[in-house]
Amino acid sequence: MNQLFYGDNLDVLRKKIKDKSVDLCYIDPPFNSKRNYFQIYNNIGKDDAAQAQAFIDTWTWNELADAGFADILTNQHDYTTQTIELMKGLKAVLGTGGLLAYLISMTQRINAIWRVLKPTGSFYLHCDPTCSHYLKLILDGIFCPRGGDFLNEIIWERTFNSGSSKAIARRFPTNTDSILLYSKTSEYLFNKATKPYSQGALKRYDKVDEQGRRFKWNPLKTVSAERLNALLAAGEAKITSTSKYPVYKHYFVEEKGAPVSNLWNDIGQIGTFGGERLGYPTQKPEALLERIIHASSNEGDVVLDAYCGCGTSVAVAHRLKRQWIGIDITYQSIALILRRLEDSFGADAVNQIVLNGIPRDMDAARALAHKKDDRLRKEFEKWAVLTYTKNRAIINDKKGANKGIDGIAYIVSGHQSTEKVILQVKSGKVQRNDIATLNSDRLREQAVMAILITLEEPTKPMRDEALAAGRYHHALLQRDYPRIQIVTVREMIEDQCRADLPLNLEVLANAPAINTSRQIDLLPE
Ligand SMILES: C[S@@+](CC[C@H](N)C(=O)[O-])C[C@H]1O[C@@H](n2cnc3c(N)ncnc32)[C@H](O)[C@@H]1O
Repeated sequence: MNQLFYGDNLDVLRKKIKDKSVDLCYIDPPFNSKRNYFQIYNNIGKDDAAQAQAFIDTWTWNELADAGFADILTNQHDYTTQTIELMKGLKAVLGTGGLLAYLISMTQRINAIWRVLKPTGSFYLHCDPTCSHYLKLILDGIFCPRGGDFLNEIIWERTFNSGSSKAIARRFPTNTDSILLYSKTSEYLFNKATKPYSQGALKRYDKVDEQGRRFKWNPLKTVSAERLNALLAAGEAKITSTSKYPVYKHYFVEEKGAPVSNLWNDIGQIGTFGGERLGYPTQKPEALLERIIHASSNEGDVVLDAYCGCGTSVAVAHRLKRQWIGIDITYQSIALILRRLEDSFGADAVNQIVLNGIPRDMDAARALAHKKDDRLRKEFEKWAVLTYTKNRAIINDKKGANKGIDGIAYIVSGHQSTEKVILQVKSGKVQRNDIATLNSDRLREQAVMAILITLEEPTKPMRDEALAAGRYHHALLQRDYPRIQIVTVREMIEDQCRADLPLNLEVLANAPAINTSRQIDLLPE
């Protein structure tokens, strides 16, 4: 069963995911980079490259951090003594600031992930050199005292560029990420990974035997006298004056491939115009996740990504026939993942996903509208716009004159043309003036229609004002639409009311369609 959760992963992990139920967990959390990340949309209406804040990676010491520190110190959730002592030490050394707030948040979540991993499970933490040294201490404290182990620090050379001249003016360019790999117990699963031989490795197999097989001479350091004699007699080994040990023929077997080491320099970042690119910041390449999922899970196993962004890990897990659980705290991510899975695997695959945390009744919608959390800026508005337009709108983050517009969508108006539609979301009291203002915003934006999504019921004067704005005639469809449309959150939730407009699909880059059965045939045994 595949499950997608909209919410804070700490709540989801603690309340919704069973103990020892996950085979492989990969996370790519915010790195404490002290910046915020923006999603880029396709340039449909010839607007400036539209973008909206996707997630925040700036940390400050606040009540959440205070509560997290108390949670660890008072051992509310089965922390190890090493974790508790480490956090006390980090507080003494670092003081209460953004860095400690980040590390507390990570400690709580990694400890919750440890609980849901099966004894055979593995954990991959993707980070960069900003905090990898602190994160490794935290991981050691959570995994090692309970029978787990540190297995690898994978160095991923994500780019061959050296960065802007300012960034590298006074230091070496940083173009690697670290992926820390831990096992829950010594029973962990590991499927050996190989990659094609490099040209350098191939060159070393510079001899060819009578049967045309390429080989090189390797030293034979430990061998019984009996075995050595047999090899010498068969011409498979020889004794030379230049080598301390006898040497034997090491054949080149192309199908076996070269073992993958902890230095991953054969998987590039997604290019700006690459087919995989969805406009989501920090999107990771599918090849990276493919390697991880192959190495630490088998078909049918459960893969968890608790910070799933635009869903690279869940899309790859789906393609590789693993079950998966994805969690993200922003609705933009959830909407993007649903679109990505639909584009890649079809609507049926999406219909079979169990969706959790998405408002299904008015109480949940109200709770989302009134959530007080700085990290979740405009979540209610994003959910309303994306849900009503079936994930076919751009979230509008612009300030100033555009302040009142929460989303922009484009309708197909002719064979080569589109027209703009603006969306506004209101969670408080609404009145007739709001409609008048929305109509003037529509005119200023040169939009053919405007849609108001409201949590509170609209009044009769509001409905009259909307009617007075007239109708837009769609020449191609020979159909009239009200210029101002009002939809309530109740209609969206209880009647499943969705935009009945010829919305352009191209605001988000499309994920390529995937034929799952063919892909599986291509996988190595
Ligand atoms: C670096 S991105 C992940 C990118 C992802 N690997 C990909 O390929 O698209 C981090 C994600 O974590 C999410 N996130 C941050 N804090 C979270 C939390 N407490 N619970 C769930 N998701 C969270 C953000 O919304 C963001 O989408």
